[in-house]
Amino acid sequence: MSLFNVYPIYNITPVKALGAKVWDDKGQEYLDFYGGHGVISAGHSHPDYVKAITEQVGKIGFYSNSIQNPIQEALADKLVKASGYPDYTLFLCNSGAEANENALKLASFHNGKKKVIAFKKAFHGRTSAAVAATDNPSIVAPLNAGHEVVFLPLNDIEAFNIELAKGDICTVIIEGIQGVGGLDQGTTEFFQAIAAACKTADVVLILDEIQSGYGRSGKFFAHQYHDIKPDVITLAKGMGNGFPIGGILISPKFKASYGLLGTTFGGNHLASAAALSVLEIIENENLIDNVNTIGTYFKELAGQIPEVKNIKGRGLMLGLEFDFDVTELRKKLIYDEHIFTGNASQKNLLRILPPLSITNEDVDVFFTGLKNALKA
Ligand SMILES: Cc1ncc(COP(=O)(O)O)c(C=O)c1O
Repeated sequence: MSLFNVYPIYNITPVKALGAKVWDDKGQEYLDFYGGHGVISAGHSHPDYVKAITEQVGKIGFYSNSIQNPIQEALADKLVKASGYPDYTLFLCNSGAEANENALKLASFHNGKKKVIAFKKAFHGRTSAAVAATDNPSIVAPLNAGHEVVFLPLNDIEAFNIELAKGDICTVIIEGIQGVGGLDQGTTEFFQAIAAACKTADVVLILDEIQSGYGRSGKFFAHQYHDIKPDVITLAKGMGNGFPIGGILISPKFKASYGLLGTTFGGNHLASAAALSVLEIIENENLIDNVNTIGTYFKELAGQIPEVKNIKGRGLMLGLEFDFDVTELRKKLIYDEHIFTGNASQKNLLRILPPLSITNEDVDVFFTGLKNALKA
């Protein structure tokens, strides 16, 4: 064993995938309703995506950010239009944690403060400030704990206003819909109240759309259900459909200057080609409409299963709540029914994050498998 052993793993070795299907080294087919932690958006090995990446690496895969990169510019242009933020600018990096790290840093540069408001059960990544803003002390090392972060209950406007009134808050970071924490989300009243209060106090509002973005919620970003405009929006996961890429969308009120942010790999030719292809597929195949149609069908079928006590989330970012820990259920689903699903820090929640391109038939297969696993 030469790998640093930090992941509890299922004994399955995928070697091939297409759309929402995955095959292991023994030829067994699986239905992927988890997308490797919500990463697969356009579908595994989509032919247009494969073509875009293959052609790009055959030309030039990487050069640094000190030369012109028209693919990066095309990506920024397409992303700001597709997401409804035409006047925002894009900074590219390599992962979700890195996106949040840069967003928090930008906020601090902006108003010169350093205290962060985050929310109970939040997950923002595993690096320095991102992990400090994550509500899970077991993954925060003493080195990271030096950041000033206060965790408030979601949807408690009064607690929020009391904290903001202290006058030392730099930024507020909140997920569009909580992912790892278990699919809880702010109400429209809450999102609107915090957005308005941040604006008045010159506190930077960061929307972490790393898991809930890129169409997964049924809108491009989950916060767009609440009619607010954050100052900074962070992206990763579905953005590259498996190719590592992250980014932050930045409001025009922030002025860029040379060296303010930077990275070696972020936005390289290959990553940009992958992300551009994902946006094209989402648009060409109307995947956001598909999310809404299939998400509704999924909820309808889920509602007919007596063991499902509650359905959380939106679009194809869903959680099925049971009255028992789902660890064994997930094992039955993967080993007996050959279906990938996810868990959350809420132990009785089965997390569903399939590719955005799934069909009604895929949903039928999922529920047949779920019913079998519940009976077994
Ligand atoms: C909401 C949210 N933010 C940030 C991250 C961190 O992303 P990454 O693992 O790419 O660093 C995750 C990952 O699960 C996430 O769900």
